[in-house]
Amino acid sequence: MRVIAGSAKGRRLGAGRGMAVRPTADKVKGALFNILASRFDIDATQLLDLFAGSGALGIEALSRGAAAVTFVEQSAASARVLRENLQRCGFNAQAHVLQMPVRRALAQLEHGGARVDGVFADPPYGHGLVQQTLAAVAAHAVLKPGGWLVIEHHVDEAPPASCGTLRLTQARRYGKTGLALFVADEHMPAAPQDDTQIVRAVYPGSFDPITNGHLDVVRRAVTVFDQVIVAVAATSSDPHKDGSLFTADERVALIRDALADTGGRAIADKFSGLLVDYCDRVGARVIIRGLRAVSDFEYEFQMAMMNRHMKPHIETFFMAAGAKHFYTASRLVKQVARLGGDVRELLPEAVYRRLLDKVGRK
Ligand code: PNS
Repeated sequence: MRVIAGSAKGRRLGAGRGMAVRPTADKVKGALFNILASRFDIDATQLLDLFAGSGALGIEALSRGAAAVTFVEQSAASARVLRENLQRCGFNAQAHVLQMPVRRALAQLEHGGARVDGVFADPPYGHGLVQQTLAAVAAHAVLKPGGWLVIEHHVDEAPPASCGTLRLTQARRYGKTGLALFVADEHMPAAPQDDTQIVRAVYPGSFDPITNGHLDVVRRAVTVFDQVIVAVAATSSDPHKDGSLFTADERVALIRDALADTGGRAIADKFSGLLVDYCDRVGARVIIRGLRAVSDFEYEFQMAMMNRHMKPHIETFFMAAGAKHFYTASRLVKQVARLGGDVRELLPEAVYRRLLDKVGRK
């Protein structure tokens, strides 16, 4: 593990052999700083490094010009390695190490009037600490309005779209590691976990199976809405779509897998009954439908009008699919696959493999 850039570039950092910490891999660390640099200036900032371990994130920030970093690390062994690393890089004067649990440190910092521009959080995986850490930072007023928090997490512990004033603005995935960037938005309600301000959209469909065309719509939609629920209809109202190839649960599992890198911004679910009732149940005010050609329009318009007739407070938004997906339809993909044609490029790899299984081409 080395410092990647800045005044201490190339310095080797100790990770503490056998320590119960998971040092951020250099690749993920590089990606994290690229995400930050695309929106924020690290220079002359005051930062907080929670679950600091050997201090790799805070030290990288100091090397790139941060004015000061407070490191919070509970374990004595890790704090010792952290202090050695600071010494080695010559950053002792700009660093403050709090060897105590994160919650206590946040309370102490708040009490002392500390306000930081950014927070790194790298909690141990598998202990439910992602949500707890976000809630703790949101509850203690240590992050300035407009400040950022970047949290590293296991992809199975996806962070929520918002927590208190913290709002998820970017999510990336690197293997099993996810990075989520939150911004402290003064316009968000202050109550922790109050999600009434979130604009949640439902993207319903048969998705038998999900195609790259569908995923293109989802990826565009998460740039506009806080959370998108890709909702698999157990029954479709289109008479041509009877007799699906995949069960609803199989379709949901394939979608979940394809969306794992959105950090919880897009999730998969299934529903039966009326779509508008489902929207009310999950608190969504928006239905998204993808439009390809003009031929889609009449059916879509009828559905939108019928849904509005039933629930006028729910709006339907139509999104144009990307140009290269104009001809991608699950129905055609299945037919071509059955008859031996090549559909690999039209589907996520896992879906492609399952489809070949289903049509007996393996
Ligand atoms: O991808 P599809 O198959 O065209 O999706 C159609 C879907 C699932 C959105 C539509 O059939 C639907 O909303 N079904 C749920 C039942 C319902 O609400 N029907 C009334 C629609 S106006």
